[in-house]
Amino acid sequence: MRKLGIMTSGGDAPGMNACIRAVTRIALQSGFEVYGIYDGYRGMVDDDIAPLSSLDVAGIIYRGGTILRTARLEEFKQVEYQEKAANNLKKHGIDTVVIIGGDGSFKGAQALDKFGINCLGIPGTIDNDLAYTDYTLGFDTAVNTALSAINNIRDTMTSHGRISIVEVMGHRCGEIALNSAVAGGAEAAIIPEHELNIDELADQLRYNKMHGRKSDIIILSEGVCKSNYLEKELEERLHVDIRSTTLGHIQRGGTPTMMDRVLAARFAYRAVQLALDGKTNRVIGIKNNQIIDMNIDEALALKKEISKELFEIEEILSR
Ligand code: F6P
Repeated sequence: MRKLGIMTSGGDAPGMNACIRAVTRIALQSGFEVYGIYDGYRGMVDDDIAPLSSLDVAGIIYRGGTILRTARLEEFKQVEYQEKAANNLKKHGIDTVVIIGGDGSFKGAQALDKFGINCLGIPGTIDNDLAYTDYTLGFDTAVNTALSAINNIRDTMTSHGRISIVEVMGHRCGEIALNSAVAGGAEAAIIPEHELNIDELADQLRYNKMHGRKSDIIILSEGVCKSNYLEKELEERLHVDIRSTTLGHIQRGGTPTMMDRVLAARFAYRAVQLALDGKTNRVIGIKNNQIIDMNIDEALALKKEISKELFEIEEILSR
């Protein structure tokens, strides 16, 4: 019987559990034996690998995080670690591994190919920073979590007539910030893909005040600068007290949204299909609401671009 491994790697993302459940159940029903690999690449190297049954993945669809746990393993860039991991997988008779993670995790997958291990990648990161897919697992939930915080912050900022900076995650990608800003009705979105001009931002905030706006919310992507830096720079220019909130890891946890759960099931279904068809080194994604798969090297060579249209919309709506 063919054996399929499943692993989560890098920063966890809501929807990973739903995807573990879906891959496990679809693979079992397709005739595979399924093995969970714990703590990402760490578990591959340390042989922390154990069979998964349908019951093992019951009751996890609504839970954030990952029951397989996760890690970022810098050492996996070294060939000795990759070889040890591949040998452990071979010892268990596992020739194909479904890896749920971001670009760092996919680079590990590329390396394993050299040792005869076939990896199939499912994009799981809140950052939505992979160019080949419109969405990654966890992004929708993270933005909705950010939105709920922004709504609360708006209540208190409006009551006090204040300016607030809300720093969101995203690594070097502005997707979480831009989408939270548009959906949250923010007065500005500061993202790595657009150069920050603090003088222009200060002018806009002055204009807003003169025209009767009761509060301003600036969504700042962590990839640009720290919120306390921007706070200080704006306070010097505007001579007002500004409040900052860094949402941090709140965005990474929580029950996945419908979109992330359904996406998890659709990604899982394609991953198992590819394994059944003997397709190697592919990553799964979604484009124009169609599930796609692509060669991993080609996918990672693409450069992520943020929607210019959405940025323009944000600029218009924020005025
Ligand atoms: O990649 C997901 C992410 O949450 C990024 O948005 C953030 O920069 C990073 O991980 C934080 O990583 P850690 O949890 O290791 O501090």
